[in-house]
Amino acid sequence: MLCSCAWTGTWAQEGACQKDVAGCGDEKPSDKYMEKINMVQKQFEAYPTPEFTEDDMARETEWYGMLKNKTTENSKVVQHATLEHINHFLFEGKAPFHSGFRVLIVGGGTGYSLLYLAEQLSHTDAEIVYLDYSEAAMKIAQKRAEIRGLTNIQWHHKSIEDIPSLELGKFDFIECWGVLTHLTEPLKGLIILQNLLTETGGMSLMLYSKYARTGVYQMQELMRLVNKFAKTMPEEIENTRKILKILPKTNWYKRSELDQLEAYGEYRYGSRSHDIAQAYSDTEIYDIFLTKLDTPYSIPEVYQLVENASMNFVEYSAWDTRIALKVENYVKDEELLSMILKKSKIKQEAIAELIIGYLSRYEFYISNNKEAEATFDNLENVPFMYGNTKKLKRRLEESWKFSEKESYIFEENIRSTLFNEGSRIKMKLKWPMNKYAQMFLKEVMNNKNESIGEILAKASTVFNEPKDFLLEEFRTIYTAAKSSGQMLLRHKNVPEFEKTQYNILYELYREKEEE
Ligand SMILES: C[S@@+](CC[C@H](N)C(=O)[O-])C[C@H]1O[C@@H](n2cnc3c(N)ncnc32)[C@H](O)[C@@H]1O
Repeated sequence: MLCSCAWTGTWAQEGACQKDVAGCGDEKPSDKYMEKINMVQKQFEAYPTPEFTEDDMARETEWYGMLKNKTTENSKVVQHATLEHINHFLFEGKAPFHSGFRVLIVGGGTGYSLLYLAEQLSHTDAEIVYLDYSEAAMKIAQKRAEIRGLTNIQWHHKSIEDIPSLELGKFDFIECWGVLTHLTEPLKGLIILQNLLTETGGMSLMLYSKYARTGVYQMQELMRLVNKFAKTMPEEIENTRKILKILPKTNWYKRSELDQLEAYGEYRYGSRSHDIAQAYSDTEIYDIFLTKLDTPYSIPEVYQLVENASMNFVEYSAWDTRIALKVENYVKDEELLSMILKKSKIKQEAIAELIIGYLSRYEFYISNNKEAEATFDNLENVPFMYGNTKKLKRRLEESWKFSEKESYIFEENIRSTLFNEGSRIKMKLKWPMNKYAQMFLKEVMNNKNESIGEILAKASTVFNEPKDFLLEEFRTIYTAAKSSGQMLLRHKNVPEFEKTQYNILYELYREKEEE
């Protein structure tokens, strides 16, 4: 079925005209739509996000003045924007970063992942395009690019709704984090972006979750009621501060404040002065409690959104989300677990999400390509460890030395490097270990860039076992290590990713032990 929508110019495509695409066929956006969009735009003009203060600018200026070309970006926060992740999850391990690769950062704000990507791609002929309707945010991002000496970015002070008339061309990769949420119809925005992707192109998205942010949405409702007659944004912020001070422990936001602060802590990372212990800044207050458009999702709704945009869900881009959504980490009763594991992946994840209750955002990759992720079946792929694995290597070697069992689970507590204190979220690495896993890990950690095929050839002489058998043994440990974000694949023709090799993915820690 064909339909059209003059104001976006994007709807004349098969499959887009579905009954759940509200407003499809409209001649122009309604006044109510435009009123809300304008209010959100005013918010980001007055309070550019993520917050980046003058102190932060001075700190960056000093850093890049001393050590040009060494990134300051926090690898945990922008992990999804590292080339090795994009290559592994969206381009089968064979991304053409060196042949005119095109990147679009939509709603790029003050520029974190934009700059991180631009830095990683600065030695290639890749083109990076930034778009945001907040001029204030764009100016900060531009200044930060200048400090870094980056000249590979094109700038557009425009809105998503303008895109169809901009003739931006096609893109291999689009990043859109925390932006679709601020549209009255996120699906329309997503389809606008989908129309810009190449046939095998992919995107990295971030949306908010409705369950973990129950308290946030109650606060937004509360502040709408309180601020009905507030005339200015500072007045709204002032009222919010007064309300925050008197919230009892029973308030739904108060109940989940620690988790919310940890989630929002990510938005404080740019600013050393904004650690979790500090009071909310004006920007944070407006972004969390006062924004006028904030559409949250559940897991099934995320998958539905992706399907409605005729795209394929690839994988969550954050290791902690992948671990968090494994229902077997929580349900220990065998009968109940086996019943749950018979359900679809989406339902299992929906169950896990409701069990844990803290997942405040979904960070994920989607693609036009059904088979976008690099596969372990391609023996030309090279398995490699992401980031700095010195401590992990030590712990693995200890376990190999001291474990009395031939087959066991290598278990280590891990936590985000952002939150050393106060986290109620406990996570573990659980890697199935045996002599085959050990050999595979040793080969991979030796960093000799051996392909799966080469490791297999070596292993078949060491163990005198058929390659098919060994491949399955290797796959088991690869799958566990990949899910915890530690191991990725790249095709043997793709060079190493130098700028991110020192990233710290997570911290290994032992309870009651100061290291
Ligand atoms: C929450 S911030 C996220 C910034 C950045 N993507 C990040 O994750 O660090 C949302 C950004 O999207 C921009 N934005 C929201 N709606 C937009 C629209 N319709 N068109 C263009 N930019 C938009 C805002 O100006 C703001 O800079």
